[in-house]
Amino acid sequence: MILLRFFKRYVVPLWHWYLAGLAFLFMTNWLAVEIPLRMAVGVDALGTDPEAVRTAAFTIGLMGLAVIAVRSLSRVLFFTPGRLVEFRLKNDIFDMLTKLQPSFYSKMKAGDIVSRVSNDMTFVRALVGFGGLQVFNVTLALALTGRMMMQLNPKLTLMTLLPIVVGLAFMQAGVFAMHRLTRLSQTQLSSLSDRILALLQGVQTVQDFCAEAAFQQRFEKENLEFMETNIRLAWVRSTILPMLGLAGSTCIYVLLVVGGPMVQRGELTVGELVAFVTFVAQLLWPLMSLGWLVSVFQRGYTSLGRIDQVLYAEPEKPEGSNPSDLPRVPPALHLKNLSFTYPGLETPALHGITATLPAGKTIGVYGRTGSGKSTLLRVLTRTWNPPAGTVFIGETDILDLDLDDWRGNTAVAPQVPFLFSDTIAANVAMGPIDPERVNVATFQAALSEDLKALPEGLNTVVGERGIMLSGGQRQRTALARALYRPANLIVLDDVLSAVDQETEQRLIDTFASIGQDGQQPTMLLVSHRMSALARTDHVLVLDQGKLVDQGSHSALINRPGPYRDAWSSQHEDPLPELPTDAALPAAEVVQ
Ligand SMILES: Nc1ncnc2c1ncn2[C@@H]1O[C@H](COP(=O)(O)OP(=O)(O)OP(=O)(O)O)[C@@H](O)[C@H]1O
Ligand SMILES: [Mg+2]
Repeated sequence: MILLRFFKRYVVPLWHWYLAGLAFLFMTNWLAVEIPLRMAVGVDALGTDPEAVRTAAFTIGLMGLAVIAVRSLSRVLFFTPGRLVEFRLKNDIFDMLTKLQPSFYSKMKAGDIVSRVSNDMTFVRALVGFGGLQVFNVTLALALTGRMMMQLNPKLTLMTLLPIVVGLAFMQAGVFAMHRLTRLSQTQLSSLSDRILALLQGVQTVQDFCAEAAFQQRFEKENLEFMETNIRLAWVRSTILPMLGLAGSTCIYVLLVVGGPMVQRGELTVGELVAFVTFVAQLLWPLMSLGWLVSVFQRGYTSLGRIDQVLYAEPEKPEGSNPSDLPRVPPALHLKNLSFTYPGLETPALHGITATLPAGKTIGVYGRTGSGKSTLLRVLTRTWNPPAGTVFIGETDILDLDLDDWRGNTAVAPQVPFLFSDTIAANVAMGPIDPERVNVATFQAALSEDLKALPEGLNTVVGERGIMLSGGQRQRTALARALYRPANLIVLDDVLSAVDQETEQRLIDTFASIGQDGQQPTMLLVSHRMSALARTDHVLVLDQGKLVDQGSHSALINRPGPYRDAWSSQHEDPLPELPTDAALPAAEVVQ
């Protein structure tokens, strides 16, 4: 199934390469039969017919030159499709990796994916390049050279093939051992790469906590195991080749012991015996490579399976084939009993949330750490899909919208911003750079002053994950990224903590005015700061994944609850007087 799907999509379209390669391979094998036959004629004419010897020598010379050309061409024609398949596979995998969602990445480690795209790819290339070449080569060699040998002398042919078959059995055992060791070495390499990757990402933390020795020890242990596997592999590999030589010498021995008397009895000419020696030498490698071929197919097939898991992973796009149109206006979001549990966990991160987020309004989200604020935003932006029937725009379930359409309409500044090792401008634009708009966005994100201090301003390369920037600068670059494109839904996850209050107020106002076609976007603003929340139209208060209160800022500070407590701890002003019969939170919805 996997193989069929792969061949149909990647190999069949390259059939003309293989056909041309096959033609040249046929010529190569035809010449491989013709040359020894000419040799036989030449040898038998030695001393009797000098003219025939000269003609034979001349023809053999010409054919030898032709072999160089056709053999090289046949190899190029078979190996090129291998590279082409690899090229297309890599492109397709990358494309898929850009589409897959966190549920996939939480199951597969980065190092593992990298190893699939690099190591496994080598085996698949071997399968369609070398593998394809050898299958046809062995078939043609047996069909042409083998047939000619049988024609010349069946008895001698069978006798000489015997050592080859025994050699093949030994070789096969060696190849199996190699296969097992190679797989082990692949897994160990994956694990080593993962360790290096983890260290690179956290090297500063390792140094800060003096954990170098522990990390080093773990790495050395795995590295040692990796080396030992490879040394064993080298042993197996080095014994295989001499074995091949031994099989060849045994064949020559048989030829001399059995063929010699045949010549004396006149059943075989000397020339034919010489031709036999050449035939055997030519058949030896293709036959021995049968064992190799089994391994190439096995490894190729295993690797194909591993690549297949990425290539055909299901991106979570549960919308039907005919997604509903997304109206180009700021959306009003209706949450109906929204619960969400991360895969593999038991406790829901969001629990039965029912609320309406009005169009074109700014909605604050408040809650203690771990209360589910970021999760709520991730579910609304469909980083993780909400369960069906829980989030609606008007009457439409957001799962029925085209995902790209939905995201194209949304600007997100996540809590932990990610910057690529590229220039600030490229990080802001995330695509074709419009310098004018980048300037505006960085100005609005209060980054202009910082840019002046950077060596190359907008063209400064920020280093791995933005390491060259301060935490606040990184956050503001992410804000500029969200400001760069007009959106109808804006989602800011606790990103205003890196700016002073005045800038914070200005940023909220700016975000509130950058909707598409000049409309006021719907904005979700997670914050711990009361000064930011005070500027919102409506606040949702979360606690342990539940919506425990909601209302306008002024309503919330006027009734007891976590919000009022937080407000009082951040303000020295006296708390507003509570009415004596202060009602507990009434579900309140702003339209
Ligand atoms: N990717 C994830 N996989 C599994 N569990 C997660 C994941 N992200 C968050 N959680 C869990 O979900 C719960 C809510 O986390 P969330 O990040 O939404 O909290 P938060 O309110 O944003 O907190 P903070 O104020 O610290 O940012 C936590 O218990 C957390 O452990
Ligand atoms: Mg959070």
